Amino acid sequence: MANIVLGVTGCIAAYKAPLILRELQKKGHEIQVVMTRHAAEFVGPITFEALSGKRIWMDMFGHPTSGGVEHINLARQAELFLVAPATANVVAKFANGLADDFLTAVQLSVTCPVVVAPAMNVEMWRHPATQQNLERLKQRGVHVVYPEAGYLACGDVGEGRLAEVEAIVEAVQVIVQQSTSLAGKQFVVTAGPTCEDIDPIRFVTNRSSGKMGYAIACQAALRGATVVLISGPTRLEPPPGVRLEEVRTAKEMHQQVNAFFVDADVLIMAAAVGDYSVDAHSQKIKRQKSLTLDLKSTEDILAALPRRKGQIVVGFAAESEALEENARIKLQQKKLDLIVANDLASFGSNFDCALLLRADGSKSQLEKMPKVELAGRILDEVEKLMRTPAQQFKVEERTEG
Ligand code: CTP
Repeated sequence: MANIVLGVTGCIAAYKAPLILRELQKKGHEIQVVMTRHAAEFVGPITFEALSGKRIWMDMFGHPTSGGVEHINLARQAELFLVAPATANVVAKFANGLADDFLTAVQLSVTCPVVVAPAMNVEMWRHPATQQNLERLKQRGVHVVYPEAGYLACGDVGEGRLAEVEAIVEAVQVIVQQSTSLAGKQFVVTAGPTCEDIDPIRFVTNRSSGKMGYAIACQAALRGATVVLISGPTRLEPPPGVRLEEVRTAKEMHQQVNAFFVDADVLIMAAAVGDYSVDAHSQKIKRQKSLTLDLKSTEDILAALPRRKGQIVVGFAAESEALEENARIKLQQKKLDLIVANDLASFGSNFDCALLLRADGSKSQLEKMPKVELAGRILDEVEKLMRTPAQQFKVEERTEG
């Protein structure tokens, strides 16, 4: 199966790492263990050496054969990097790109999927710094296997206990199997708001954060797709392995979507494209008693999309009222295969409570979940559509009509 690098960091839950190693081996994976110095205070390297049958990596220096680049060699071979348990300190280092020991140097060098299973005291877990660090990791596409609530080694009761070994192994299995499920497929994903300049310093835009589109692009790349992310201005870091095309206006987004859609298998329009543009003034508009802007309607990118057989198109619907009714109209008018409908509360939030409406008339109301998870659910739907030959016929039929 996969070459997995198992990173073990220093906390009491390190005693579960040998069990994780064993279970992963039973699934047929090759395991290479990397430890921090603190982890070795809890479980001796010899335990991992005996179980994995391989030497254990802990220090950056002192390996006579490696020439100091062994972390790069390991990172290149890794098909998945799992850190279990991951302490608050190591999560913070990952989030900030620090590489001051062997394990964090590997983390910074890998291009494969990364899974972290945090374990720590409840107060450390709840600390805003830890939560923000995890959020940053998730935005970069790192998978988090959340800790459970229960009795902790320090005597406290609460969240922070390492997830069950089975849950961690299951997460790894899903990712290893997923990482090729979209191999060979070309995805175009749009994200963020668009901006229309009024004058050199003022513009019209909307509150879209881009989180949904970035999460979809990231997850699609993790499943092996080739992804172009066409994004309006956001504060987000581009997901690893994704080609980012930055745009500003609705017109620029339209041009880029048309250019990349020609060769695409799937288009997911998560962008909040502005519905109006303005003729920008070349000079700063001076203060006056009142100002009237002449807003002109932009073209509907989805509705105007030139299609060919078999391409799958997913749209979003942001509604403040009559969610299902309005979303269904958009599904039909824009000739979509799937529409993800949500109310405006999801704007800027890390969570979403989406209603999925399909072209065949069926629907699924999803529970409130992190956008990263919703991204996975949307891709599951796309994969289902790809496996349905009838769907391809339907797309062709609707295009011609
Ligand atoms: N969309 C598009 N081109 C536009 C506007 C929107 O392709 N000019 C896409 C969005 O990316 C989204 C879907 O159409 O996938 C629905 O966008 P939404 O803003 O909810 O609806 P609109 O079509 O703009 O209609 P309204 O604002 O009247 O609800």
